Amino acid sequence: MKRTLLLTGATGYIGRRLAQGLSASWNVLRASRTAAGEGAVDLNLADPDSIRRTFDSAAPAAVVHAGAEADPDACERDPERAKRVNVDAVKVLAGLCGVSGARLVHFSTDLVFDGERGWYREDDAPNPLGVYARGKLESEEAALVRAPGAAVLRVSTCYGRPLGGRPGYVDTMHAKLSRGEPVSGFVDQWRTSTFADQLPEVVTKILADEDLDGVYHWGGSERMTRFESSVLFARVFGFDENLVHPGRAVDMKFASPRPRDSSLDSSKLAASLGIAPMTYESGFKALKGSFK
Ligand SMILES: NC(=O)c1ccc[n+]([C@@H]2O[C@H](COP(=O)([O-])OP(=O)(O)OC[C@H]3O[C@@H](n4cnc5c(N)ncnc54)[C@H](OP(=O)(O)O)[C@@H]3O)[C@@H](O)[C@H]2O)c1
Repeated sequence: MKRTLLLTGATGYIGRRLAQGLSASWNVLRASRTAAGEGAVDLNLADPDSIRRTFDSAAPAAVVHAGAEADPDACERDPERAKRVNVDAVKVLAGLCGVSGARLVHFSTDLVFDGERGWYREDDAPNPLGVYARGKLESEEAALVRAPGAAVLRVSTCYGRPLGGRPGYVDTMHAKLSRGEPVSGFVDQWRTSTFADQLPEVVTKILADEDLDGVYHWGGSERMTRFESSVLFARVFGFDENLVHPGRAVDMKFASPRPRDSSLDSSKLAASLGIAPMTYESGFKALKGSFK
């Protein structure tokens, strides 16, 4: 019989594909405020009682925490809510895992780094720039201290199809380029974007190996600006590359500061799991069929 896994953020961009992918090996309970249908459970991360109730009735053997206020600008505008949802909730959830012995896999972000250097490894010192990033770093510490054996998975900006949720940048770019409309990409921010469809396999393998505790990075194998990856996207999909225009992040008025180069070195986890991080080209090619 499959063991029970509580998946938070199950209606989110990452959670949707985890809900599908993890169900091959786990009895997945899909938790969020709006999860519906079979296997859905109600969870409000801003309410500690809701977390306790959901956890107690699920009695999970493992928890994958992909629920969060994941918009850095929203966190900057409402730091109190960001703290409740992104930090306090993890303290409660990780504490429950620690007491019950449930294995915790907690999602975090490349934004814990200040981006002054790039190609960060797990033992590099974080230096978060904004409310969201500071909260995520605090949540990492809470997960590791309160839930012994927990794994923290830092991912870069993810790309893939939305699976019924909000469209990501790949869908927006495809829609515009296919109509012959211009798109713009920053030339002054470097990322190792994570191919989102790899995450179910990565998380399944982490869950299968209890020795994989601590912090791990999972991005792509290459570091690119959004401008460079958008030109490549246009080329792979057969759109006019000249529709991609250079833009500058420093000219934008984001509420939350963004690191210049938060590229992640994923070699430690790649070696442990025997999975290779994707190049942008292989990721875009893998998505091609899904747009037909
Ligand atoms: N996507 C990326 O590029 C990326 C990059 C780096 C790190 N991450 C991290 O990966 C994780 C997942 O991100 P994502 O992009 O999938 O986020 P997302 O698409 O914004 O989804 C967020 C999820 O969290 C749930 N949620 C938000 N507030 C909640 C609350 N108060 N109570 C219960 N559930 C709540 C939402 O569900 P309801 O609205 O249905 O409640 C939704 O399922 C996050 O920890 C994020 O920080 C993501």
